Amino acid sequence: MIYLDYNATTPVDERVISKILPFFSMQFGNAASAHPYGRKAHEAVENARSRIARSMGADPSEIIFTSGATESCNLAIKGVLETYRSKGRHIITVTTEHPAVLDTCKWLEQKDAELTYLPVNSAGMIDLKVLETAIRPDTVLVAVMVANNETGVIQPFRRIGELCHKKGVLFFTDATQALGKLPIHVLNDNIDLMAFSGHKIYAPKGIGGLYVRRKNPRVRLSEQIHGGGHEKAMRSGTLNVPDIVGLAEALSICKDPREVQSLQNIQSLRDRLEHALTKLPGVQVNTDRETPRLGHVSNLRFEGTIGRQLLGRLNPDIAVSSGSACSTASNEPSHVLLAMGLSEDQARSSIRFSLGRFTTEQDITTAILKVTDAVRDLSGR
Ligand SMILES: Cc1ncc(COP(=O)(O)O)c(C=O)c1O
Repeated sequence: MIYLDYNATTPVDERVISKILPFFSMQFGNAASAHPYGRKAHEAVENARSRIARSMGADPSEIIFTSGATESCNLAIKGVLETYRSKGRHIITVTTEHPAVLDTCKWLEQKDAELTYLPVNSAGMIDLKVLETAIRPDTVLVAVMVANNETGVIQPFRRIGELCHKKGVLFFTDATQALGKLPIHVLNDNIDLMAFSGHKIYAPKGIGGLYVRRKNPRVRLSEQIHGGGHEKAMRSGTLNVPDIVGLAEALSICKDPREVQSLQNIQSLRDRLEHALTKLPGVQVNTDRETPRLGHVSNLRFEGTIGRQLLGRLNPDIAVSSGSACSTASNEPSHVLLAMGLSEDQARSSIRFSLGRFTTEQDITTAILKVTDAVRDLSGR
C-alpha cells in the first residue's frame, strides 16, 4: 500500500516519538501543579512554546495550545467576533476555506454575524481588489487560509495582511497545511492570528495551536472553553504535555536545513507524478501552472466516468483522497473545486495526491504504473 494522502494526516516521526515518550511515564506531571513533578512539566511546555514561537517569529506569550486546527479556527473567529462586538459583526472569508473556518462562519451567520464569502478564480486565487472593496467600517476580521488543503494553492497572505493592517482590520489565517512547508513569519507576513495543527507535520493528532498577536495591534479573544483559566484564560483544560513537546520537536525538524532541502525532492517527485499522469488522455491539473502551489500536492481531474471509478480502483493499493475527504468521509463533490468553477461531475472525477517525508522514488514509479493501468482498463484502451 502506497500512502499519498499526507494532507489528510502524516505518520508521527520517530524523532518526535522519542521526545514524547518520557512525558507519559517518568515526567507525567500536570504543568499547573506547584511541586517538582508539575514544575518539570511546566518547564517542558514553556520550552516547547518558546521553540514554536521562535520558528514563526512570534513571542512565546503569543502561542496558545489547543486540540488542533479546528479548535484554533473556532477560537480565533468566535473569540474575535465576541470581543470586538462594539466595532461590528462583519467577517470576510473565502468560499474555498476548510470547513473548520466555513462552518464556524455559517454558525455565526445564523446568530447575527454578517458574512462576505469572497469568490476565487478558476485557479483558486482570490482577487485582492475584491477583498479591498469588501472591507467595511464594521468589518472585524478577514479569514483567509495560507494554502488550500485540496489543491495546495497559496493565497497572497502577506499582501492580504498588509491590506488588513492598512484598513485597521484583523487578519486570521489557517496555516494548517502550510506551516513547516513554507517560511511563515507572523510579523513580516502581517498575521494577527494563525491556526496550526500537529498531525500535518509529523506530530500526533489532537494537538495544535493558535498564534495571537500581542502588539501592534494587541488582539483580544473571548475564551470559548471555560474552566481553570489555563493559557492566559483563553483556553482552559489541562495541558497535553507529551503532544506539546512533540509539536515543538516536529516543527523544529521541519526547519532543519536537511528537511527543508528534502521538500525540493518531494516537489520533484510530485512533478514527476503529475507530468506522467497528465500525459494520459483527459487528465488535467486543477489550478494552473503559474499559480503558486505547495510542492507536495497534485489535484488531478480525470475524464468523467473514469475519474469517478478510479478512486475505488486504486483502493487499497494507493491511499489517495477525493477532494472533500479532508473533513469527514462524504460523497459530496468538493466545495473547493466547485468554487473554482468545475462542474459537479468534474469535481467528483478529481483526485488529490499529496506526498510527504517518507514518499520514495519507488512509490511514485509504482503509483504512476497503477494509475496508468487503471485508467487504461477503465477506458477500455
Ligand atoms: C486547512 C485545514 N484547516 C483545518 C484543518 C483541521 O485540522 P485538525 O484536524 O487539526 O482539527 C485541516 C485538516 O484537515 C486543514 O487541512
